[in-house]
Amino acid sequence: MLASSRICNGLIAWAASGLSLLVLLPIAACDMVESKAEPDPTLAGGETTLFRATPESFAMPAPNLTGDRLEKHLVGDFEFEKKFVTAPAEVNSGLGPLFNRTSCASCHTRNGRDKPDVSLLVRISSGQDFLQGPVPVAGLGLQIQDRAVAGARPEARVVIEYEEISGSFADGEPYSLRKPAYRLEDLDAPLPAGVDLSPRMARPVFGLGLLEAVSEVTLEDIAAEQVAGGEVSGRINYVWDMESETVRVGRFGWKANQPTVRQQTADAYRSDMGITSPLIPVETSIVSGQHDGLEDDPEISAETVDAVAFYMQTLAVPAARDVGQPKVEGGRTLFTRIGCASCHRPSLETGLAPDLPEVSSQTIFAYTDLLLHDMGEGLADHREDFRAGAREWRTPPLWGVGLTEIVNQHTFFLHDGRARNLKEAILWHDGEASSARERFRTLSRSERDALLEFLRSL
Ligand code: HEC
Ligand code: HEC
Repeated sequence: MLASSRICNGLIAWAASGLSLLVLLPIAACDMVESKAEPDPTLAGGETTLFRATPESFAMPAPNLTGDRLEKHLVGDFEFEKKFVTAPAEVNSGLGPLFNRTSCASCHTRNGRDKPDVSLLVRISSGQDFLQGPVPVAGLGLQIQDRAVAGARPEARVVIEYEEISGSFADGEPYSLRKPAYRLEDLDAPLPAGVDLSPRMARPVFGLGLLEAVSEVTLEDIAAEQVAGGEVSGRINYVWDMESETVRVGRFGWKANQPTVRQQTADAYRSDMGITSPLIPVETSIVSGQHDGLEDDPEISAETVDAVAFYMQTLAVPAARDVGQPKVEGGRTLFTRIGCASCHRPSLETGLAPDLPEVSSQTIFAYTDLLLHDMGEGLADHREDFRAGAREWRTPPLWGVGLTEIVNQHTFFLHDGRARNLKEAILWHDGEASSARERFRTLSRSERDALLEFLRSL
C-alpha cells in the first residue's frame, strides 16, 4: 500500500513537471499499481479508520466527516448520551413508564458493550408471524422491561445462575466454561405456556454505516459461496422493515433481526427506554395496561432518531494494531487455516450508500459475513427471530474485540456475555463451527496464544 502510493506520488510529481505528453501513460500505470495493492488490514474501517487505542476508541467521529455533517454527528452524540426522565418534564421527558435503562449510553457505555449485569435484556415472544416476526406475549410484549417509573410496576426481574462445565485442550490444559440458566422472578403478568426467551447483551455501535452499505447482492453471493464450499452454510435473515413496509435483509442485532440503523434506533428508544418516536409512536407498556395516560407521543422527533442513527453510521472504526508483528501474523494465518475466517470473513466491500459518501465504496476488515449460522445446542436460545432459527446467530464483527477491555473494562463475550474471555468465546462455538472449535482445541499452546494475540490486535 505504502510502496504503491509512493510510486504514484512520484509519478504525479513527474506529470506536474511539465512533460504533459507523458502524463497519460504514467497515470494509467499508477492506477494499475494501486488496484493490485493488497488492502491493508490495519485500516479496519477503510477511510473511517482512526489510529487510537484508548477508552474513547469507539466514540470518535470518522476522520472523513466534516462541516455540517460533523455537526449532525455531534448532535447525535449528545442525544445518545442523554438521560431521560419521567414525563411530564421540561427536558428529556418521556422515560418509560416501563424501561430497561435511561440512556443509550448506559448499556452501550463509551459506545461499546457494558457488562451483562448492566446491559443484558431478555427478548420474549409467543411464536412467529410470517411477515412481522416474533409475536408479542400477552401482557408483556416483546421484551422484559425490568424497571419502571414511580407508580408503575417492572415486568419482571431477570435471574441468571451459572454452572461450571470443565473441559480440556488436546494437550491436557484444563478449562472451565460457565453455562447460564435464566429465570424470571416477580412477574407482573403470568407467563403463558410456550413463551420463548432470548437473553442478549449490548454490542458496540461503531462501523454500522459501513456494514449497512454492504450490498444485499454481496451477502447473497457469500451465502451461495458457503453452500457450495461445504463446512459452513450461512443464511440471510429477512426481516420486516417498518419504514418501507417490505421484507429486507436483516443485519443488526445478535440475530440480524433489524434491517437498518434507523429502525434499530427507533426500536431501542421504544423498547429499552420507553421513548416513542414518529417511527414507532406507541408505548410498549400499552400491552401491560400500564400506559401513563399522557398525550405526549411521539416523545422525540424524527430528526432526533435520524441524528442518532447518523451518529452511529459515522463513528470512526479503530485501526487494527500490531499488523506485521510475527505472533499476530502467525495468529492471522491460523485464523484462516482452522476455519474461523469462513464465517468471520476478514474483508468486505461496501457499495454506494445513499447519502453516506463517508462509508461508500471501501474495503473494510470487520471479520463477519453478517449471516446466520447454526451454533449448536449449547448457545441456542430456542427463540426464532424472523428467519433466524432456534440455534442460529449472526456472525458478530470482530473489529474492536481486542479493545473491549480498554473501553469497557471487561472481557465478557457472546450474545449473553457468558464467555469470560476470548478463549471461552471460541470454546463455546459448536454446530457449523464445531470443526473450527475442535481445531482450536487441538492447537499447541503457542499456536493458541498466537490466535488470541491476533484477536487482541483487532
Ligand atoms: C438496556 C440496555 C440497552 C439500551 C438502553 C440500549 N441498547 Fe442498544 N442494544 C442492547 C442490546 C441487548 C442489543 C442487542 C439486541 C439484539 O440482539 O436483539 C443492542 C443492540 C443495538 C444495536 C445493534 C448493534 C449491532 O451490532 O448489531 C444498535 C445500533 C443499538 N443497540 C443502538 C442503541 C441506541 C441508539 C440506543 C438508545 C436509543 C440503545 N441502543 C439503547 C442494549 C441496549
Ligand atoms: C460457523 C460460523 C463461525 C465460525 C466457523 C467461527 N465463528 Fe466465531 N462466532 C460465530 C457466531 C455466530 C458467533 C456469535 C455466537 C453467540 O453469541 O452466541 C461468534 C462469536 C465469536 C466471538 C465473540 C464475539 C463477540 O463480539 O462477542 C469470537 C471472539 C469469535 N467468534 C471468534 C472465532 C474464532 C477465533 C473462530 C475460529 C476458531 C471462530 N470464531 C469461528 C460464528 C462463527
